Amino acid sequence: MVAHAPSRNTQKLLQSVEAGARSIETAEVQLVIRTPFEADANDVKSASALVLGTTENLGYMSGALKDFFDRIYNPCLEVTRGTPYAAYIRAGLDGTGTSRAIESITAGLGWRAVQKPLVLKGEWRDYFADSCGELGAAMAAGLDGGIF
Ligand SMILES: Cc1cc2nc3c(=O)[nH]c(=O)nc-3n(C[C@H](O)[C@H](O)[C@H](O)COP(=O)(O)O)c2cc1C
Repeated sequence: MVAHAPSRNTQKLLQSVEAGARSIETAEVQLVIRTPFEADANDVKSASALVLGTTENLGYMSGALKDFFDRIYNPCLEVTRGTPYAAYIRAGLDGTGTSRAIESITAGLGWRAVQKPLVLKGEWRDYFADSCGELGAAMAAGLDGGIF
């Protein structure tokens, strides 16, 4: 999981993905959490699946997640093709620009979206955290069950 969580709410989202994934985690499925600034190409190459988390800032993904993509893109090109991923986006209003950008970059990398980006927009709602929990559980269960 590579997630930018600059606020209390986005930390809740990260923690919910983590809790959901850990509810399924087995010896076969292990969760590694990195900030976008920590994560590097080796992390991506060694991941069987990825969850990406970001805020939407100025109509785009966070600079942190963009920095991650800028650093890993060339080293991961060709060698991470087919990696299943899911993304969640916390947006004040919109989320469209971020969804489009993530879909475009991951298409270039040849990663496989297991679902449309989960956009959590508008005023904070407690169900956003529940949705992230379900996302984490679904990713871990999908990996554990060999679905991806
Ligand atoms: C500089 C800045 C730019 C932002 N730009 C957008 C934007 O273009 N679209 C949007 O939906 N939200 C935007 N937001 C809102 C953030 O996405 C939101 O504050 C962030 O996801 C944290 O959510 P929280 O307030 O629930 O913690 C922006 C926030 C900041 C600080």
